[in-house]
Amino acid sequence: MNSQKNSCHWLGLLLVSIACACAATDTNSPREHLSLDANWKFHLGDDWLGALRLDKAGASGGPAAEKFNDNSWRTLDLPHDWAIELPFDKNADGSHGFKPVGPGFPHNSVGWYRRTFDLTDADAGKRIWLTFDGAFRDTTVWVNGWLVKRHEGGYYPFREDITDVAHFGGKNVITVKVDASKFEGWFYEGAGIYRHVWLDKTAPVAIAPDGVFVYAKFKDNVPEGDAEIRIQTRVKNTLTNSVFMPMTFVITSPEGKLLQKFQQAVAVPSSSEIEITNTTTLKDYELWSPESPKLYKLFAGLTDLSTGQISDSKETEFGIRTFAFDPTNGFLLNGKHYELYGTCNHQDMAGVGAALPDALQSFRVAKLKEFGCNAIRTSHNPPTPELLDACDHLGMIIMDESRLLGSDQENLQKWDDQIRRDRNHACVGIWSIANEEFSVQDSPQGAAVARTMQDYVKRLDPTRPTTYAAPEGDTFAGINGVIEVRGWNYHIGQDMDNYHAKHPDQPEVGTEQGSTVSTRGIYANDKERGYVSAYDDNAPSWAHTAKRWWSYFADRPWLSGGFVWTGFDYRGEPTPYSWPCINSHFGILDTCGFPKDNFYYYQAWWTTNTVLHLLPHWNWAGKEGQEIRVDALSNCKQVELFLNGESLGKQTMQPNSKLSWQVKYAPGTLSAKGFDDAGKVIAESKVETTGEPAAVQLTPNRSTINADGEDVSVITISVADAQGRIVPTAGNKINFTIEGAGKILGVGNGDPSCHEPDTFFAQPSVKSIPVNDWRWKLADVPSKGTLVPEYAPDFDDSTWSQIKPKTDGDTGDMFLTEGQTAVYRAHVKLSEDDLNNTAVQIRFGGIDDHGWIFVNNQRVGESADWASQPAFDIKKALHAGDNVIAVGVFNESGTGGLNPDVNVELLGQPVPADWSRSVFNGLAQIMVQSTKDAGEIKLTATADGLSPVTATIQTQPCPPRPSLP
Ligand code: GAL
Repeated sequence: MNSQKNSCHWLGLLLVSIACACAATDTNSPREHLSLDANWKFHLGDDWLGALRLDKAGASGGPAAEKFNDNSWRTLDLPHDWAIELPFDKNADGSHGFKPVGPGFPHNSVGWYRRTFDLTDADAGKRIWLTFDGAFRDTTVWVNGWLVKRHEGGYYPFREDITDVAHFGGKNVITVKVDASKFEGWFYEGAGIYRHVWLDKTAPVAIAPDGVFVYAKFKDNVPEGDAEIRIQTRVKNTLTNSVFMPMTFVITSPEGKLLQKFQQAVAVPSSSEIEITNTTTLKDYELWSPESPKLYKLFAGLTDLSTGQISDSKETEFGIRTFAFDPTNGFLLNGKHYELYGTCNHQDMAGVGAALPDALQSFRVAKLKEFGCNAIRTSHNPPTPELLDACDHLGMIIMDESRLLGSDQENLQKWDDQIRRDRNHACVGIWSIANEEFSVQDSPQGAAVARTMQDYVKRLDPTRPTTYAAPEGDTFAGINGVIEVRGWNYHIGQDMDNYHAKHPDQPEVGTEQGSTVSTRGIYANDKERGYVSAYDDNAPSWAHTAKRWWSYFADRPWLSGGFVWTGFDYRGEPTPYSWPCINSHFGILDTCGFPKDNFYYYQAWWTTNTVLHLLPHWNWAGKEGQEIRVDALSNCKQVELFLNGESLGKQTMQPNSKLSWQVKYAPGTLSAKGFDDAGKVIAESKVETTGEPAAVQLTPNRSTINADGEDVSVITISVADAQGRIVPTAGNKINFTIEGAGKILGVGNGDPSCHEPDTFFAQPSVKSIPVNDWRWKLADVPSKGTLVPEYAPDFDDSTWSQIKPKTDGDTGDMFLTEGQTAVYRAHVKLSEDDLNNTAVQIRFGGIDDHGWIFVNNQRVGESADWASQPAFDIKKALHAGDNVIAVGVFNESGTGGLNPDVNVELLGQPVPADWSRSVFNGLAQIMVQSTKDAGEIKLTATADGLSPVTATIQTQPCPPRPSLP
């Protein structure tokens, strides 16, 4: 964990009112952990099929080649999800959210990213690591033309030591091909480098990646008496000599007080890695819990004896707490029963798809906590580490799930990576090996694989149990028979009671429960528009309403509580409908995080707040005199309902339940009073009939954010009547403009059938002018690319052979035989206006094998890769009027020549994006991200017929996290 980043981040998040204190605590360490998120070039399309070359090292072509010209590519920052940028398509896969990417859409399924960075001479001798937190999906990475990594899978982290191929004292190029042609899950998965990328520089003897594991241990796993702190550290020596180094460990309290400091010497043989274990005790300690997320820090540092200085160090946050699952008492936190009020969640959000800046992880965790959620299951894949950071700090228990069930070497390696990366996190309470593996779960093979994965956890993490999300009833065969904690996906009722009676020694947990489908602000099912009523009436055949599942679980503490499917709506799985519906309806919150009515059901029974919420809204013009069902979601003992001041009766609430009235509609005010046991009014609530939409409102969740180029303010857009009351049926289209120190990241509205774009980006302006009428002749071509008369503009080429114009898919005739050389010539006319573009370049369809390119007798470039489509800046060599392009070609082997698909590309200023979004049932959302300049962001919202509004967000100075420019 990078302490510098986090001090900024949590400050913003927790709204602590002290100035931003971004100084790292382990400043003594020369280790650098640098963000590589900024300034990537991006191109969508599998346009370089021959780029990957395995015949020769360092010789890959196309964008993988160091010299490739990516001028015309879009510039963007990570995290990035290109699937979110594509329009919805009825023919695309509905479970993935109807985005035209993946099977059936090859043209949208491969993306290329390129980025350069510098290393100094002083970096020579260090180890350079490249780490991807995750990309969707199969990824090929080149550094300086060298193939360094091929990684399959959309959710696991991967890294590579790139020291050997790095250029010290110069420029380095990373090229990443991301291939999202194959799905992995059955839900929206995004596409691209949707998580962070890092570059670490360490000393040659250093703490290994994910090489620290620190945890607290107690007698009987109950935090009483001394806390034994165990520290396992792996040290990696890449030198060819053995080393002997003192290692220093420092533990600091949540308040930053030094608690322990001790040293141990380590001896590491040459080119190897060792692990050391240390144990110390703490007498006084503060326990971590979701309600009080206290975090300790461990500093581990190696000292170089020749200088007496720390040469490498790592800071790790950890929590002191115990987790256990007990067959009788359910989940135990710090030795006491603790009900898991959990939600399963996918990782995407409105506006940004799968590419969430860290601030949005925190935003989502905080939203879940509002209704009492204290646990998240990362269904159905390993989380991004920043979600775990947010959960550590804000207090949220994690069920950390793997993507695939498998005990093959590759899968175990991924499981290993996941566990080592995540096991220090205070929030991680249990590992889940898989979800709903229907075809193998009852088989002996399924059991054997589960046992191997579970044993693997035991070796790497003795502190947490393992579960499997089983979609079956009273079945013990296969995985359920070997798994430590029996997971229950649905199947509440007799099955669970029978199973519990038969297997009283096996702990249990509700891995996936509930599954009400509902749409925010909708009170009748509407198949055509794809909306489901929010009354908690609808659940698929295998699932249950909120009230049904929770009242069953609440009575059975041995079940440990459970995880609702889902906390947030997500893209894809539009159950129970399909197109035009493009996202799920399972959420307690919609895709933006706006509460649906069920939010208040859970808040009533999962928190100690006094809750009284009425539904539906009270804008039913045209239904006067008709009966409308009114529900009260509340934990008050009794609730009395009133319409326009007249009592409609008082009802008594049963635990984990809700109340209903049938009310003849009349506009006005529907109100309620909630009473406690003694008959005292403890809550009041009302819903009013509003007027017509009159104004736009903007409400930022945070009106001061950090000027670090990453922080985000999430702004609620509402449409209000003349009295400022949100109009619950409004659907106005809102337009946005932004000025100052910020940019718009995305927009959403939670409407599961809305096909408006979530994101807009400045469109690169590229105009291509074909260069036709090529003539060619065999001629001597100096291999150094020096001038020959045939390159001169006025050289008479009228007797040369003509090349037929290229047609689509045609590579042109390749006339040259092995060893031949030739000159190719063509003319292109350009105007003054053309030359006023930001850049002008020439792009060739291919030059086989070697080419030297001249414009008006000036050498503009050279190509040595027959498989690439090289492009060269030519603006300086051009003039208005006729220009002569000449290319000298040497064909080394096979047939060769010039592919006449040649274009001059005029690159203009990108066309700025016009942002807009309609509100859905009165609400929409816009995310605004800071730049690195402290100042003011002014966001203005306008809409036809409504009064506009401008919100001001301050961005406070805060050094950005360490990064490479
Ligand atoms: C479950 C599955 C989830 C989701 C859900 C929809 O069975 O585990 O991923 O598909 O059904 O109801």
